[in-house]
Amino acid sequence: MEFAEKVVLITGASSGIGASTAIHFSKLSAKLVLVGRKENNLKRIALYCEKTKSIKPLAIVADVTEDADAQRIINETIEHFGKLDVLINNAGIIDMGGIKKTNMESYDKVMTTNIRAVFHLTMLAVPHLVQSRGCIINTSCLASSKPSTMALAYNISKAALDHFTKCIALELAPDGVRVNSVNPGFVKTNLLKDIGLTEEQLELFVKNVVGNMPLKRAVEGNEVAALIAFLASDQASSITGCNYLIDGGSSLR
Ligand SMILES: NC(=O)c1ccc[n+]([C@@H]2O[C@H](COP(=O)([O-])OP(=O)(O)OC[C@H]3O[C@@H](n4cnc5c(N)ncnc54)[C@H](OP(=O)(O)O)[C@@H]3O)[C@@H](O)[C@H]2O)c1
Repeated sequence: MEFAEKVVLITGASSGIGASTAIHFSKLSAKLVLVGRKENNLKRIALYCEKTKSIKPLAIVADVTEDADAQRIINETIEHFGKLDVLINNAGIIDMGGIKKTNMESYDKVMTTNIRAVFHLTMLAVPHLVQSRGCIINTSCLASSKPSTMALAYNISKAALDHFTKCIALELAPDGVRVNSVNPGFVKTNLLKDIGLTEEQLELFVKNVVGNMPLKRAVEGNEVAALIAFLASDQASSITGCNYLIDGGSSLR
């Protein structure tokens, strides 16, 4: 699989699945645009990618929920590389709480990051993707289709993302632009870092989650990255409008 001469934009590239995806695409010789908020982390990943294939990524420190930042991400990408081939909407957050234990601030924060920002950045990217006959991959979640009680706003934000994926796949198919999502189960990243658990509680939580996964292990970030790369490649040229589970069998129970 080769991505030489392909411009690949990854949001949330400063950590977790996005960082693994950046590293994976760098090995495939892609020209990378890496987006994140934490500058030090973003620079560290960009440097790692640069050392892999001597192709310097464009690192953009930006908050995808800020409309002006979203416009700047697309403008700088086109100014720097002249085109966009692959958009990977990966940045996301979680907040805990079911309907009895939530509030509108939490709802707004999660929906703004996980769906409004994706909607906006995609809207701005589409003219360039139509030109390149490119593709879009959204990082959704197993939780989009499997009901659970712990993170209601997060779950429904990802359900919305799956439907967004399918609707725009249908709309953009005549333009030769494919759109898919990857839907991971549990991956050890920084996602759960700020949910208000102590280290000990988090460790116990993770142990329980992994213990319930049929394959008895967490999904690895580089496994999600490999699936994203496959969906972005020519080998997946007949695949559009699909939500791909990668969950160690968690959907089975
Ligand atoms: N980990 C899992 O078990 C799991 C399972 C299913 C789906 N997912 C999805 O995978 C995606 C990546 O999450 P992760 O697990 O890799 O978590 P992570 O390690 O916390 O990474 C999240 C990334 O999103 C970025 N981000 C968040 N809000 C942003 C904003 N407003 N503007 C720009 N960047 C922003 C973060 O940037 P900074 O750190 O620089 O702020 C970070 O790079 C998310 O969409 C998540 O829902 C994760």
